[in-house]
Amino acid sequence: MRSLYCVASVACSLLAATVNGAASQAFSWKNVRIGGGGGFVPGIIFNPSAKGLAYARTDIGGAYRLNSDDSWTPLTDWANNTNWHDWGIDALATDPIDTNRLYLAVGMYTNDWDPNMGSILRSTDQGATWAETKLPFKVGGNMPGRGVGERLAIDPNQNSILYFGARSGHGLYKSTDYGVTWSSVTSFTWPGTYFQNASSSYTSDPVGIAWVTFDSTSASPGTATPRIFVGVMDVGQSVFRSEDGGSTWAWVSGEPMMGFLPHKGVLSPAEKTLYISYANGAGPYDGSNGTVHKYNISTGVWTDISPTSLSATNYGYGGLAVDLQKPGTLMVAALNDWWPDELIWRSNDSGKTWSPIWAWSSYPSRNFYDISAAPWLQDTTSTAQFVSQVGWMVEALSIDPFDSNHWLYGTGATIYGGHDLLKWDSGHNVTLKSLATGIEETAVQSLLTPPGGPPLLSAVGDIGGFYHSSLDIAPSQAFHNPTYGSTHDLDYAGNKPANIVRSGESSTAIQVATSSDSGVTWSADYGASTSTPPGKVAYSADADTVLLMTSNGPLVSKFTATFSAVSTLPSGAVIASDKKNNSVFYGGSGGSAVTFAKTVTLGSSTAVNQIRVHPTVAGDVWATTDTGLFHSLDFGNTFTKVSSGVTAGYGFALGAGSTTAEYPVIYGFFTVDGTTALFKTEDAGLNWAMISDAAHGFGSASANCVGADMSIYGRVFVGTNGRGIFYGSPSGSLPSATASSSQSASGSAAKTASGTPTIQVSSSKITTTTSQATTLTAASSSAANSKSTLVSTTISSY
Ligand SMILES: *[C@@H]1O[C@H](CO)[C@@H](O)[C@H](O)[C@H]1NC(C)=O
Ligand SMILES: *[C@@H]1O[C@H](CO)[C@@H](O)[C@H](O)[C@H]1NC(C)=O
Ligand SMILES: *[C@@H]1O[C@H](CO)[C@@H](O)[C@H](O)[C@H]1NC(C)=O
Ligand SMILES: *[C@@H]1O[C@H](CO)[C@@H](O)[C@H](O)[C@H]1NC(C)=O
Ligand SMILES: *[C@@H]1O[C@H](CO)[C@@H](O)[C@H](O)[C@H]1NC(C)=O
Ligand SMILES: *[C@@H]1O[C@H](CO)[C@@H](O)[C@H](O)[C@H]1NC(C)=O
Ligand SMILES: *[C@@H]1O[C@H](CO)[C@@H](O)[C@H](O)[C@H]1NC(C)=O
Repeated sequence: MRSLYCVASVACSLLAATVNGAASQAFSWKNVRIGGGGGFVPGIIFNPSAKGLAYARTDIGGAYRLNSDDSWTPLTDWANNTNWHDWGIDALATDPIDTNRLYLAVGMYTNDWDPNMGSILRSTDQGATWAETKLPFKVGGNMPGRGVGERLAIDPNQNSILYFGARSGHGLYKSTDYGVTWSSVTSFTWPGTYFQNASSSYTSDPVGIAWVTFDSTSASPGTATPRIFVGVMDVGQSVFRSEDGGSTWAWVSGEPMMGFLPHKGVLSPAEKTLYISYANGAGPYDGSNGTVHKYNISTGVWTDISPTSLSATNYGYGGLAVDLQKPGTLMVAALNDWWPDELIWRSNDSGKTWSPIWAWSSYPSRNFYDISAAPWLQDTTSTAQFVSQVGWMVEALSIDPFDSNHWLYGTGATIYGGHDLLKWDSGHNVTLKSLATGIEETAVQSLLTPPGGPPLLSAVGDIGGFYHSSLDIAPSQAFHNPTYGSTHDLDYAGNKPANIVRSGESSTAIQVATSSDSGVTWSADYGASTSTPPGKVAYSADADTVLLMTSNGPLVSKFTATFSAVSTLPSGAVIASDKKNNSVFYGGSGGSAVTFAKTVTLGSSTAVNQIRVHPTVAGDVWATTDTGLFHSLDFGNTFTKVSSGVTAGYGFALGAGSTTAEYPVIYGFFTVDGTTALFKTEDAGLNWAMISDAAHGFGSASANCVGADMSIYGRVFVGTNGRGIFYGSPSGSLPSATASSSQSASGSAAKTASGTPTIQVSSSKITTTTSQATTLTAASSSAANSKSTLVSTTISSY
């Protein structure tokens, strides 16, 4: 599925699929199934006119369309290094008139973490292809308040008209040409002043306009809808209306001003009533107070219909849904009720009375729970990470407009829902099932395929990470005992590859753990205490030494002795272990280099991004930097820049070579001949083939990690920052090995008869320090500049 792009008010044109003529090899790509989503789903939107048509938006992993079998199809996998921020979806609108039309408001951050302006993407084929209009401001799909909405809305009577409520004080925007061009609605003067906290640029940006809701009953088809409600993130007046199609606006008088923010404004057309959930925080994590109100449009009367009284509440309200088949039936969710579990209520009398999904009298008997599609969601061990069954961060809550039994809601980790919702009103026994198959929304930190072990071990943000005994079956449990929220890194010991080290975040457990059965079971590393920070890890070849790069700098522990500082390794250096020689570790740093063994300058690099070591050849080391790829065959004593056409390298991995190949295949994100993408080389850097494609861009190159399998030729893994893990295998032939002039390698490797690689170096050998007896002081002073250094060291010196 190609994505078609065009920029504001310029005629669309199809962009060529081949990028800069870079040689490429077709790969087939599939998600490694974690199942269940794995991240926050801030929006689930049903189309009110096409049965079964629904979409989910995520904050860092793009948008999805619902399939009839309850699974989801990703719609934005084309996002690549140039448009990675398109995976931040701040709002979504599906057209009730032309149900093939779909719109997304995209952009990741409104602060300087994202340099680019936001866009409205529009599709006329339910998300298969897209056109783009750049906005004159940023959009924040992963900013505070991303679950309110929807702030993008289509006029249900005249679908050429759309409104978008911006963040950051930019106010209300309107399009009258199906989203191609947009202009500021200057008569709307309430851009929203609320922000979470002045302490950081992330929390200090005004959340802006929360939602735009047309009163579909105020016009007939073909005529622009005159009555429009807009909810604004303000603690004072926050709900406004127009009666003249957006020309003039006024506060909706009588709105109770209790210091709360309106998260959702949902119309019940048959009741001519607007239902509003309020919370005292913007979400998604906060909220300790709030109300649910209804505004009767016919009478102008506001009524407090909160399920919990103000004196008893310790949560605000988020998700709100009406049943269009049963006017008067609605549901509302607490934004967060962290303990003992999230609350959702249902009313069948327009909010006069409510029934909660669980009550103290029956807690904890929640026997309706079905997580067969993602069993890891409920950790039943004593160190359970996920004790909540109903969820948290519930902003997305929807009832299928064609099927009162079908409902879906988003949590911080999945989509739940079911097909027997009406049971709520009789036996009060609804199925609560994870219905997120196809959504893979994790931020992946590290991937490892240890020789002789499972196909994959993953280190994943927020949900820990997994032992994947199959790539296509959801794992039954996250890594546990100890259990980490975010796992930072994994490594294996080269000579004893069933030995794995893992480090991640926990507020109670020791944050380094080891396994001697390839990652099935774990023990805390008692060289660390609960105050030892987590970090990147490297395991020595014989599994007796752990090197840990923490936020407090590098630490080392041998034979589980107490971790001690490595004063001579720069803080923040990327680290790796030799896979054969137990006493050798490598470090790479672009900072002021203090080294303790030997410092090698890597050309003009100012940052080392990753170091990978040959799994079976001692001293065979590769490093990516901001200027390219470097190779050493002598434990890092000398490095050669590989291929002058490669001008930057990020995450990469070494995988099995083909039966005829001389060398492992290198897979990774590189800039080759000016194109930054996922590439591979089968001849140590002489020839490169791009293996990402127009349908699989993998988002930001520098945010990704890469894995490969040393026993399966062609098997490569990409861990993304928001779209889970992909695995690929070649589906097309390797381009003919005709290295272009710009790609001519400066060194090529061949395996000699003895199995020891040798390297033929042509010219640009990098500068190295000459003395083998480099002392600590000498090395540190010679390297006290901004150049990258690669440090190899013998850990036995501790
Ligand atoms: C990145 O995606 C854009 C839009 O789909 C496309 O035009 C461009 O060619 C892609 N770049 C690469 C390197 O694939
Ligand atoms: C704002 O952020 C600072 C720094 O994180 C924190 O100490 C403070 O408690 C926050 N204030 C509020 C009102 O949340
Ligand atoms: C909740 O908000 C109401 C209305 O502003 C206020 O009266 C009440 O004190 C608040 N409760 C708490 C616990 O802050
Ligand atoms: C709106 O007000 C009218 C007149 O009092 C009443 O009949 C109707 O039930 C109200 N609607 C809702 C949803 O409360
Ligand atoms: C409305 O909900 C209540 C409480 O769950 C239930 O007892 C009642 O049977 C429901 N009425 C209908 C018509 O479904
Ligand atoms: C609720 O449904 C479950 C699963 O079908 C069943 O095992 C249980 O007995 C039911 N409970 C009630 C009270 O109907
Ligand atoms: C491992 O590396 C160290 C340091 O370079 C070296 O002294 C030692 O001889 C090597 N050991 C083996 C077995 O190659």
